[in-house]
Amino acid sequence: MTKSTRRAEPGWPSGSAVPEHVTSPSQNPGIVDDVFFRHVVTGMRNGVIALNRDGALAIINDEAYRIFGIDRGPEDLGRPAAEVLRGHPEVVRLLSSVFDLHLLPNRAELRLRLSGRVIGYTLALVRDDAGDVVGASMFFKDLTRVEQLEERERLRDRLAAVGEMAAAIAHEVKNPLGGIEVMAGLLRRKLGDAPEAQLVLTDIIKEAKMANAIVQEVLEFVRPIRLQVERTRVGEAVQAAVQLAETKARRGDIRVDAKVPHDLPLIQGDQFQLTQLFTNLLANAYEAMDGRGRVTVTASTVRLIDDIDSKEAVVVELVDDGPGMPQEVADRVFNPFFTTKPQGTGLGLAIVRKIVDAHDGSIDLETVPGRGTRIRVTLPVKVVSELTN
Ligand SMILES: Nc1ncnc2c1ncn2[C@@H]1O[C@H](COP(=O)(O)OP(=O)(O)OP(=O)(O)O)[C@@H](O)[C@H]1O
Ligand SMILES: [Mg+2]
Repeated sequence: MTKSTRRAEPGWPSGSAVPEHVTSPSQNPGIVDDVFFRHVVTGMRNGVIALNRDGALAIINDEAYRIFGIDRGPEDLGRPAAEVLRGHPEVVRLLSSVFDLHLLPNRAELRLRLSGRVIGYTLALVRDDAGDVVGASMFFKDLTRVEQLEERERLRDRLAAVGEMAAAIAHEVKNPLGGIEVMAGLLRRKLGDAPEAQLVLTDIIKEAKMANAIVQEVLEFVRPIRLQVERTRVGEAVQAAVQLAETKARRGDIRVDAKVPHDLPLIQGDQFQLTQLFTNLLANAYEAMDGRGRVTVTASTVRLIDDIDSKEAVVVELVDDGPGMPQEVADRVFNPFFTTKPQGTGLGLAIVRKIVDAHDGSIDLETVPGRGTRIRVTLPVKVVSELTN
């Protein structure tokens, strides 16, 4: 390897950062030569940069370019590191302090202000054969992904804790709420000749009922689902849901066409839970459509084929010609407590997903703003896995 070839490859040092005893293959044939050494550094999954005593950049590898978000320049090596890394003054500061530090940071962390990425880094001095300091190096790793995973883990723990707390609070709130409703009812009867007080009490009862419904929803969401599995007619669950949805949301003049074939196979499912599933979907459609338009519910049988086997499933599709939703809403609708409605709890679709999962099924949603929403629920005819979650 000649120096000129080395120079032709940007990112590789031409100076002191490559120790003499590994640069000459002739001295040590078959062990490590310059090319091998270069490939090790270039291909490292850690970022590596090194500078000479005078602050000139001696090594910078691909991962370092990627993490710092800078484009490789043909003349980067030999230029002051402060210039090449000018978008990252915090790194420059760190590197320029290396030669004065008593104790070099090992596995320390730093947030790059420019990109928000977090890097974990180790600093080391580069010494020549005589032990004199001729430069410094920094090895680092992009910790953003690790951070994200940890954050997700923490979020999961937090959600579990919040779920438990919500269940406990909901449980405690339920009784006094029931009490308020009953007592307000008693008072209303006693005050038969005071119409104004009656109106106020009617409002109190209405509000208490609404609060109770929210508590009920929270409890349903946080409680593990225990399916009462029986051979179920999906068509019956859909019909029951059409009746029930009207009690949950204003249907107005919305036309509902439910076309469920009579010869659809019976599925192993929980009739009550499936009714709730379709009720939540219909109620959402009604709420979105504001009393006008059309909802169609169709059902068919499909054969699902995966790597291991194939199984029969029933697919139920609900299509509405309501306002649809923008992508950023569609991405979040199954998240618990996500709602765009002033009075919504945001648990309807989270519960739907939970019921679908408990049936080993799947759900997907397509929506076009201004055109409508299509929700497809696929339920296997035979549930294979454990029926509780
Ligand atoms: N058919 C639909 N058309 C348009 N938007 C919908 C439709 N279904 C759901 N959404 C959107 O998804 C959001 C979440 O729905 P979800 O049922 O989980 O909660 P919610 O209806 O807001 O409240 P809750 O069901 O708890 O009363 C809704 O707030 C709405 O923005
Ligand atoms: Mg809803």
